Amino acid sequence: MMTDNAAVGWIGLGKMGVPMAGHLLKAGFALTVYNRSSGPEVGLRDAGAAVAESPAALAQNVGTIISMTSDDAALADVTDGPNGAFGAAAPGTLFIDMSTVSPDISAKVGARANELGLGYLRAPVSGGVALAVAGTITVLASGARADFDKALPLFDAMAKKSFYVGEAEEARYIKLALNMMVGMTSAMMSEALVFAERGGAARDTILDVMGESAIASPLVGYKLEPMRKRDFSPTFSAKQMAKDYDLLLAAGRNTNTPLPLAAFVRQIWSSMIASGYGEEDFLAYVKIMESLSGTPPEE
Ligand SMILES: NC(=O)c1ccc[n+]([C@@H]2O[C@H](COP(=O)([O-])OP(=O)(O)OC[C@H]3O[C@@H](n4cnc5c(N)ncnc54)[C@H](OP(=O)(O)O)[C@@H]3O)[C@@H](O)[C@H]2O)c1
Repeated sequence: MMTDNAAVGWIGLGKMGVPMAGHLLKAGFALTVYNRSSGPEVGLRDAGAAVAESPAALAQNVGTIISMTSDDAALADVTDGPNGAFGAAAPGTLFIDMSTVSPDISAKVGARANELGLGYLRAPVSGGVALAVAGTITVLASGARADFDKALPLFDAMAKKSFYVGEAEEARYIKLALNMMVGMTSAMMSEALVFAERGGAARDTILDVMGESAIASPLVGYKLEPMRKRDFSPTFSAKQMAKDYDLLLAAGRNTNTPLPLAAFVRQIWSSMIASGYGEEDFLAYVKIMESLSGTPPEE
């Protein structure tokens, strides 16, 4: 079958992939989707997407392929694994990975794409499921500038802003740097809150003051109400944060970059998982700080 250069293939229909792919369909792109397990494709199929049986089958008919899967192992599988997209993609096909993965696996995938004559863009995203649904995530892209220019109409359909940040793994590092700061925001808010409460201040008052102070960031703002209500339903779980901290600590080791704060904060994600809070929001960090100061956390 002839490759349709304007057609787009989407691999990975998880919490982020479904709404992001949905925006492409709404914007009028001819879309073929693939998900490892069946079920999540139903809504997109009903809205007009074609469904492929494997990444290789998907790759035969499209000029651009996007993946949004879990981790390094998934990226390796969907690109160069058995039935991976790379085995079937025609030279000149552009492969864009939007997952959060290590710079290491990303460089390997990039080298393999190069051998096969495929374009490869790293395009991890900042912003969670709510922003993916609203179409207001931020894309951080690195690779060939011409590939970025080609991908921009796709990014524009699902994101509020796209940054071109370099020719190689720069986007992977910036994405992990942002998540480092997201995790540390929870650490800083939790430690400060428990400290001030133990000094006698009321929780609501402390949170009101934090929200109006110079320390407030958009992220601190988003987390004030959940902290006030002790709503730890996950926007991003402690387990997911542990995965991203493992990626950034490994990348730090590989580049001899000391990350003392991140190394410490990583221990608390372990403590949360061991305490049964692994599937809760990473903001539940506060419960560990409460336990450490002799105050059993309220549920
Ligand atoms: N959630 C967020 O707030 C957020 C924000 C920014 C970035 N991210 C990053 O975006 C990526 C996707 O996140 P998500 O929340 O959408 O994850 P998710 O809901 O857990 O979905 C993961 C997807 O990857 C697929 N997958 C996993 N292993 C695979 C394999 N070996 N082969 C093929 N497919 C595989 C899953 O297929 P099955 O359905 O078959 O399991 C599923 O479609 C992650 O890297 C995450 O860190 C997430």
